[in-house]
Amino acid sequence: MDYRSYLSDESKNRQPSPIRALAPFVARKGMISLGAGNPNPDTFPYESMQLTLKTGQVIQVDAEHFKKCLSYDLTSGFSPLNQWLKGLQQVEHKPKVEFGLTIGVGSQDLITKALQMFINPGTPILVENPTYTGVLSFLKSQPCQLVGVSTDASGLMPDELQRILQEWPIHEKPRPRILYVIPSGQNPSGVSASFERKQEIYSICQKYGILILEDDPYYYLQFRKDRIPSYLSIDVDGRVLRFDSLSKILSSGLRIGFATGPQVLIDQINIHSQSTNLQPSGISQLAAYELLEKWGYDGFDAHVRKVSSFYEDKAKAFIELLERHMKGYAEWDIPDSGMFVWMKLLGGITDSKEVIMTKATARNVVAVPGEAFLPNGGMTPYVRLSFSNVSYEEADEALRRLAIVIQEEAALNGVTIENH
Ligand SMILES: Cc1ncc(COP(=O)(O)O)c(C=O)c1O
Repeated sequence: MDYRSYLSDESKNRQPSPIRALAPFVARKGMISLGAGNPNPDTFPYESMQLTLKTGQVIQVDAEHFKKCLSYDLTSGFSPLNQWLKGLQQVEHKPKVEFGLTIGVGSQDLITKALQMFINPGTPILVENPTYTGVLSFLKSQPCQLVGVSTDASGLMPDELQRILQEWPIHEKPRPRILYVIPSGQNPSGVSASFERKQEIYSICQKYGILILEDDPYYYLQFRKDRIPSYLSIDVDGRVLRFDSLSKILSSGLRIGFATGPQVLIDQINIHSQSTNLQPSGISQLAAYELLEKWGYDGFDAHVRKVSSFYEDKAKAFIELLERHMKGYAEWDIPDSGMFVWMKLLGGITDSKEVIMTKATARNVVAVPGEAFLPNGGMTPYVRLSFSNVSYEEADEALRRLAIVIQEEAALNGVTIENH
């Protein structure tokens, strides 16, 4: 694929840092470096690092690795971790195309750099409607045009994608060439795209020459034994740039995410990092690596299955509480992964913002008004509820309070809610 034709002028103008570009040579065995002005690690006060797990297991961090990670390192991340993650992608997604991998400061760091790599003034970017507010906030600061594609209980709708692309050009603008999707446990909708949907969407992207940015931090939080295969695993052309995150499965404070895809695009992200944050934190990477390396791929799998079953139990309990408190007051799809329920308020409510921001908060309940997730703003009766961090009792009480708020609002709208 001609990746250069997708790059923005800004991205094409990026030059590798002359000093960072030397780093791979410095990493070679036997090399004597009079290059970068790295601080001498002998002056650092830290001596060693030990991790204690909740199981009681203690991991004494390898002394050489520790010394290395105290210093500046490669932009693409600590090599042993980068290699381990590459191996994970092989085991989990079995990509059919060659790929590179880079580690970032959370996946957010890499997603925003990747998007920026493709945006010139007016560039159309296809996104799900609704979509993740963190990426929307970034995109809204960019000179691009957001093109929302409708979703339903099975994620992004292929027919809608096809219709939008077929009906292009709008005002003679170039057709979109970038699609940003969250295929598993979508934020905010909580639902996942089926394998069949992914195949359909992939072939539409093939037809129209579209690159897929697959943002998949909830991939390992699918409530099923056999995870739905990723776009990366379907890819035969090198048109998928995938983003994973350790935030939802190891720790969000580690700030570690990784991008997997065509080496040319990975290099371009690295060149961006070379002039911004330089690299992810060495200490964070080491805390992740030492554990992952001890676990191996089977241990990692066992861990993520425990995490997903934790959230599955939470989701089940939450849905039961929704049935109890919200029947007639709201509608929702059952989440199949992740941490969210996307709920439509009934009772004649057309805009959730005022109801949630003023009336729900007055009753001490916080939820996110749906407007935050709409690519082009506007009114919506939807609200995102997160069940990840509340106890059963808290969820019970929060939904009870929310039901009162909706009931009062419905009464103001002259709507009587029946069957409750
Ligand atoms: C869909 C989605 N993408 C990306 C991120 C960012 O995750 P990270 O912590 O890896 O930066 C989040 C975090 O909530 C998210 O929901």
